[in-house]
Amino acid sequence: MTYDNILPHLSMLRDSVRTDAYRRAIAEVVRPGDRVLDFGSGTGVLSVFAERAGASRVYALDRSPMLNAAKQIFSDNDCKNVEVIFGEGDTIELPTEVDVIVSEWMGHFLFAEQMLEPLLRLRDRFLRKGGRIIPDRCSLHAGLVTAASHFDELTFLRTRPYGIDFGAVERWPFCEIGVVRFQHDEILGDTASLGEIELTTLPRMPLKWSGRITSRDPGVVFGVCGWFDAQLSPGVRLSTSPLEPPTHWWHFFFPFDRPLELSAGETVDIEVKIVPLGMQNGYEWRAVTPRETREGDNMVHQAWLSRTR
Ligand SMILES: C[S@@+](CC[C@H](N)C(=O)[O-])C[C@H]1O[C@@H](n2cnc3c(N)ncnc32)[C@H](O)[C@@H]1O
Repeated sequence: MTYDNILPHLSMLRDSVRTDAYRRAIAEVVRPGDRVLDFGSGTGVLSVFAERAGASRVYALDRSPMLNAAKQIFSDNDCKNVEVIFGEGDTIELPTEVDVIVSEWMGHFLFAEQMLEPLLRLRDRFLRKGGRIIPDRCSLHAGLVTAASHFDELTFLRTRPYGIDFGAVERWPFCEIGVVRFQHDEILGDTASLGEIELTTLPRMPLKWSGRITSRDPGVVFGVCGWFDAQLSPGVRLSTSPLEPPTHWWHFFFPFDRPLELSAGETVDIEVKIVPLGMQNGYEWRAVTPRETREGDNMVHQAWLSRTR
């Protein structure tokens, strides 16, 4: 994912569920006189919010040339307390400790990008004892997809389209993660929490996550849907669930290569493993019922295809 272009930033800024939640959380957490680090400042929107909340100093840190535009944005918005720092999260120096770190580090399904580890290292080096982090807790969640249309799209190559045998690649769509916007009525009512992290104390990025879904009614499901929630401040929770208003993150779709029938009361144990792959994270996943197992190995989401194939 490159942040050197404006379109990813436009998409994040237009996501008012996300951006307004950060605005409210920053107003709640940042106190007048605080020193704030904005890790991955992009266009600088969170730094502006921090200055407006009364921060005496805001360090806007980013490795992308978008920081040049941010400089102009700070000047045009009369933000006199913001200092820009160009560099990799791990390698920079700050003149002081900070009271608050704010960061919008979350990728699709939380971990698709690799910003959490550098955030933790910045926390250990620069956050004062008792300092605050926005967000301070994040959780992963999973549901089961009941809408056949998402499965049908992936079976297109099995239908000999245009009279051509695509057998060589017909399984491939089931080996990659879709970034899909599920509607609330396209997943089973019962969902699973896969776990939670607490950012002020977390030692390292956890690689294994798991949870259980119990299907109340019989039905057919077509894959696993994944999303995250973030507690930005005590009073502000940002949810990317298909049951909540949509955000630009949409949802992860780990597809099954054939429908899975569930009987009433049947359990599905979901396991997800994060697999760091250089500049990105891949995923392994399993969905285990008492009768069978569905799984995928080393899957990456489709935005990365051009780099990985
Ligand atoms: C998801 S965007 C958030 C941008 C902005 N904070 C916002 O809320 O609109 C993440 C930003 O972090 C920057 N970034 C990612 N990893 C970084 C790293 N290791 N060091 C410095 N900047 C990083 C990217 O260049 C990008 O601008």
